[in-house]
Amino acid sequence: MNSSFNFHIPTNIIFGPGRIKELATVDLPGKKALIVTTAGKSVIKFGYLDKVLAALKEHGVESVIFNKILPNPIVDHVMEGAALAREQGCDFIIGLGGGSPIDSAKSIAIMVNNPGHYWDYIGGGSGKGQPVTEKALPLIAIPTTAGTGTEADPWTVITNMETQEKIGFGTKDTFPVIAIVDPELMLSLPPHLTAYQGMDAFFHAAEGYLANVNQPASDLFSLSSVKLITENLPKAVKDGSDIEARTALAWASTQSGMVESTSSCISQHSMEHALSAFDPSVTHGAGLIMLSVPYFTFMAEKVPERFPALAKAMGVDVDALPENERPMAFVTALKKLIKDIGCDGLNINDFNLEKSQAPALADNAMNAMGFLFTLDPYAMSKEECIGIFEKVFEA
Ligand SMILES: [Fe+2]
Repeated sequence: MNSSFNFHIPTNIIFGPGRIKELATVDLPGKKALIVTTAGKSVIKFGYLDKVLAALKEHGVESVIFNKILPNPIVDHVMEGAALAREQGCDFIIGLGGGSPIDSAKSIAIMVNNPGHYWDYIGGGSGKGQPVTEKALPLIAIPTTAGTGTEADPWTVITNMETQEKIGFGTKDTFPVIAIVDPELMLSLPPHLTAYQGMDAFFHAAEGYLANVNQPASDLFSLSSVKLITENLPKAVKDGSDIEARTALAWASTQSGMVESTSSCISQHSMEHALSAFDPSVTHGAGLIMLSVPYFTFMAEKVPERFPALAKAMGVDVDALPENERPMAFVTALKKLIKDIGCDGLNINDFNLEKSQAPALADNAMNAMGFLFTLDPYAMSKEECIGIFEKVFEA
């Protein structure tokens, strides 16, 4: 156990079915909102945007809608959204939807008051790493998916299409001031997205448990999330209207966000960002699922110590196994979970990617998001990283 750590999660989390209506009564952090949401139709079709607009109306708060955000959010929309917020005099931001609009809302919140281009502030890859000097606008996060955990962490992940880099970023100001996590807003999510996003949360938890910056609180959140997702994701994929399973997954996702705030993701996330930067049609969760078996097999061979607890959280009776089989029991349980949620047919070769790109993917992962490799429990070489990518193409 690491015995020296910080714990700072300043978000007011309002959690539970039906609690979106409390947006009408909670103290808002401003008088005019920029509502950042997806370019897709679901927030309108299922009435989520109307609920937000009605609540703001009760407050007498004005709003402007920016609804261009793509599933892999891009830097151009951050700049456009920030310009719109400035023009319209918005003094707080609401991110409504999956991780993409909420992450974009965080990045827009930074850029409303800071000069220059968003990439000037990015620390990895071709980013200039300049300090953020002006305070971000306050942000309210209203997730409609259970996956990213962005409602309970300061991180935002944005893609620069020009440089093919997808990089995480955040400041002390980019924790949402309020997060309304209402599982009823997640009932409409189709099975394949439920599966991808649930596994994103699963990997935030599993990676955060393995990271060399784990701490007692992140361990509690991690193992709880792994357990809840293993038990409930197959149920929600099978029956999207199962509110109990949706509620368990929403809490697992928020807990995994707390893991990202108190521990960290590790290099699997850097490697996935390379896949979806090279081919934006790779959904983040799907990319992680395709990477996961070769990745965790490698890690369980190199640093087996923390894997038995993860297997146990997945329901494996590890004590009944010979000691040398306990770490890999996690990988076996992971394969079963992937099958149980109908994702065992995912194949990287069906995307616009090929095995010969493994060295370029490893370069991208270790350059754009190199920091996460320093948090791995085992320091892998570039050759080993290439080897994992090659195994993904051979799976
Ligand atoms: Fe993720």
